[in-house]
Amino acid sequence: MKVTLEKASELIKQGETVAIPTETVYGLAADAFNINAVKKIFEQKGRPADNPLIVHICDLNQLQDVAKDFSDDLQKLTDRFWPGPLSVVLKKRKSVPDIVTGGLDTVAVRMPDHPLTLELIKKTGPLTAPSANKSGRPSPTNPRHVIEDFGDDFPILDGGASKLGLESTVLDLSGDSITILRPGFVDSKMIQDLLKKEVKLIAESDKKSGKKSPGTRFTHYKPKASVKWLDYSVKNISDSDSYFIFHSKTIKSSNRKNVHTYQGDYSSLARDLYDHFRTADYISCSTIYIEPFTDEKIHPLIPALKDRIKRAISS
Ligand code: TXA
Ligand code: MG
Repeated sequence: MKVTLEKASELIKQGETVAIPTETVYGLAADAFNINAVKKIFEQKGRPADNPLIVHICDLNQLQDVAKDFSDDLQKLTDRFWPGPLSVVLKKRKSVPDIVTGGLDTVAVRMPDHPLTLELIKKTGPLTAPSANKSGRPSPTNPRHVIEDFGDDFPILDGGASKLGLESTVLDLSGDSITILRPGFVDSKMIQDLLKKEVKLIAESDKKSGKKSPGTRFTHYKPKASVKWLDYSVKNISDSDSYFIFHSKTIKSSNRKNVHTYQGDYSSLARDLYDHFRTADYISCSTIYIEPFTDEKIHPLIPALKDRIKRAISS
């Protein structure tokens, strides 16, 4: 059910949850300082309690209210990338309830780049929001996806389709080294060039254990169809219940049904990926075949795309 900005603000202040638009994906928002409201997020999503949430803010004063120990690096990053698809993990203030951070002493914070949501946060204060999907399902990139997971009556602040379509980069600034916990639009080279420092990528072993970022451990982004890298050596792939996604420049568009080609347009692929996952289910395809990425360096979005697709494959 679509709600106005006024209504969304009223619901949040009453301790309810509301689906909100961001430039990455839709979020399931609640007042970050209201423990009972945050509990509802975990219940409604079916999310494990030890998977922490991101706090969304609309100005830098609110950053002071939730986190501490700021560095010059943070200043440079927020100057350059906020509002935008970068979440930073910082030491948390006591005011942030443990339920938000899954008991960690750090908090992930971002300033989303969506005018409606920034306006909403101005009225309500910081909102904590995971992606507005049931746990384990692909993230929602438009209101229709939210309705699919939560039903017609769920309050949604409709801000149109998400511009980017993949979740924010999560960057850990709370330790001695700077580590990307989840790749996204802001890639390691952009951060390295800005800070003139080495930026690490979370190790595979830390991903599996969930030690550094609990979210990496959980089943995620999963359609009902099984997702596979397309293996050209396998013959006789059934066309009728398969869904194909090609991205390289050389593969031209096709008139056959369920074939989607991007010809090197990785931003559009990122924007559409979760919608493809959901559409394939909707039309009852049993397998989604995706052209493998042979070279990570040809586009900054490839590590993020690969990360999301690999999770959909493995889960
Ligand atoms: O683009 C996005 O980030 C979207 C929109 C709604 O803002 N939100 C989103 O939230 O993707 P969620 O909950 O689906 O993913 C948050 C990720 C998880 O992998 C979680 O483990 C990690 O951020 N995270 C949150 N707080 C953390 C912390 N204190 N330390 C390490 N990782 C943290
Ligand atoms: Mg999520």
